[in-house]
Amino acid sequence: MAAVRLFVSLLICLCAYYFYSEETVSADMVRGKRVLVTGSSTGIGEQVAYEFSRLGAHVILTARRKQQLKQVAKKCLALGASSAGHVVADMSNLTAAQKIVEDVRDRLGGLDYLVLNHVGGSGQFGPFKGDMAAVTSSMTINFLSYVQLTASALTMLRESQGSIVVVSSLSGRIGGPFTLAYNAAKFALEGFYSSLRRELRLQQTNVSVTIAVLGYINTDNAVKKVGDKIRMAANPKEECAQKIVQAGVLRQPEVFYPYWSLKPLLLFKEWMPGLIETLLDKSYILENIL
Ligand SMILES: NC(=O)c1ccc[n+]([C@@H]2O[C@H](COP(=O)([O-])OP(=O)(O)OC[C@H]3O[C@@H](n4cnc5c(N)ncnc54)[C@H](OP(=O)(O)O)[C@@H]3O)[C@@H](O)[C@H]2O)c1
Repeated sequence: MAAVRLFVSLLICLCAYYFYSEETVSADMVRGKRVLVTGSSTGIGEQVAYEFSRLGAHVILTARRKQQLKQVAKKCLALGASSAGHVVADMSNLTAAQKIVEDVRDRLGGLDYLVLNHVGGSGQFGPFKGDMAAVTSSMTINFLSYVQLTASALTMLRESQGSIVVVSSLSGRIGGPFTLAYNAAKFALEGFYSSLRRELRLQQTNVSVTIAVLGYINTDNAVKKVGDKIRMAANPKEECAQKIVQAGVLRQPEVFYPYWSLKPLLLFKEWMPGLIETLLDKSYILENIL
């Protein structure tokens, strides 16, 4: 009986949170805001840039491939962006990360949203075989460059009372096999940015920090990398981007997408870690991995 009561209470709390996070965002809240989206030449970052563009923001895109960035910028303008620029940079170089922010300051005079989304350098999907180069490059691209961008942008964000949006993953909350270098960077992000959020609050600094915890999303690169290795349906990147932007604009501390797969999993993980890990382990198609 007590277990049923607990389950019902939990369900009510989850529903309440879900509907609270469903609050809508209007163009009035975003029009004219200055947004930097990293890793926006493709995938979720590209969709996040489109979402901010539909709401009338000034967007600056960054990634390594110039041609792709130019095309995305063109589409951003067509969708309604107040302006759309791009900076070509490789996040394995922390000085380059710092320069992106200087570039944004020169072009837009400030920043309202820093969306940290890029991902790369974590090696092949498969068992860890001692590849230290993959761990080092994953930590640099997927963690240290995020911190460098934040450090460089913080003064502008303080001035604008802006927002940091960090794209994380279920892999940053529940460790899993075959992507160790990637998971390590995502765990580091979760630790750094949840601590930063509290520190900013204690300093009474009005800069919000939103962490987006994502499941499997149907970007070309993700499907190419793991499509034949896991038994899971990929979720649409467009809806994913909408949820990320919505949570960022509403200054929510966290967003989970897809909510109904991730949130219960993370709650039950505290009580039954073994069961949740066993369930997740069943999703791997081991004959295609080992
Ligand atoms: N897709 C999923 O299933 C999934 C699940 C959980 C979490 N996430 C998270 O969601 C975010 C976006 O994922 P995604 O699937 O959209 O990734 P994606 O499609 O692979 O896009 C990655 C982006 O990062 C850029 N990038 C890669 N290496 C870079 C480097 N060294 N320097 C600068 N930019 C670099 C890429 O552009 P260039 O190649 O042009 O540089 C691209 O724009 C990531 O943080 C990821 O961890 C994704």
